[in-house]
Amino acid sequence: MKEKIRKAILPAGGLGTRFLPATKASPKEMLPIVDKPMIQYAIEEARACGINEFIIITGKYKRAIEDHFDSAYELEESLKKTGKKTLLEEISRLNNLNFAYIRQKAALGLGHAIYCARPFVKDEPFAVLLSDDIIDPETPLLRNMINLFKKLDSPILALEKVPMSEISRYGVIEGVSDGEENLFRINKLVEKPPPAIAPSDMAIIGRYILTPDIFDILEGIGPGKGGEIQLTDALFGLLKKRQIYGYLFTGQRYDAGDKLGYLKATVDIALKRPQISEPFKNYIIELADRIKLNI
Ligand code: G1P
Repeated sequence: MKEKIRKAILPAGGLGTRFLPATKASPKEMLPIVDKPMIQYAIEEARACGINEFIIITGKYKRAIEDHFDSAYELEESLKKTGKKTLLEEISRLNNLNFAYIRQKAALGLGHAIYCARPFVKDEPFAVLLSDDIIDPETPLLRNMINLFKKLDSPILALEKVPMSEISRYGVIEGVSDGEENLFRINKLVEKPPPAIAPSDMAIIGRYILTPDIFDILEGIGPGKGGEIQLTDALFGLLKKRQIYGYLFTGQRYDAGDKLGYLKATVDIALKRPQISEPFKNYIIELADRIKLNI
């Protein structure tokens, strides 16, 4: 019987420089997509897969994340009194989840952030979700990865084919098809390579199922790309000891850490929200006409 994935790590210690000045004193993970902070999409995605223990790696100016996932007694009481049942349900839906916060004292990279969670994860497999990457809530990426883990008992990384002009923004793998649809055996990983030396167009996106042996490797590696401790480098080190798989995702992902990706996520998700989808769609049609007519 393979171990169940019960815990998820969400690194949230980054500086969010791509969204300055909004992120000068507020976490980028709290930027709303329609009406929900970015990080809540990732939490809900993991919860839908049976994960209910969350380890959030935070840093300076990230207190709002803790407050957001705390219960809000006064607000809840006031909504109860005024009979606002739907809103009450909406804000207390995640109250039964367990959150632990670890403060990453310096932004030393994704690998370092994951390593900070070691005392809380100990020796069980776990998921990593990068909340910048928003996965269409209707596609079961993480669920599929967890099911694959049950079968393979090996680390699994989510992959996406990206245009070569964007490859240097990602960790990139070289792999061979495993025979099963969308599954690859990884034999090389490089963090943010220039297109000329990228081993493929298959980029790692922000969902990982990892095994606890990654911590020993993270403990021993030095800084890599950008002077940071890179998870990709640690995974390359782990390859010497065990097989790592890549699962190619073909659904919709938004890189909401980037302004354009953030706007696309906002528009697409708003178009699916019952109360606003119709008027918003009408506005977009009208806007498209205006753009076409250049007015
Ligand atoms: C991180 C990882 C990178 C991965 C990417 C996915 O980079 O280091 O390997 O491809 O997330 O979003 P970051 O986006 O934090 O620079």
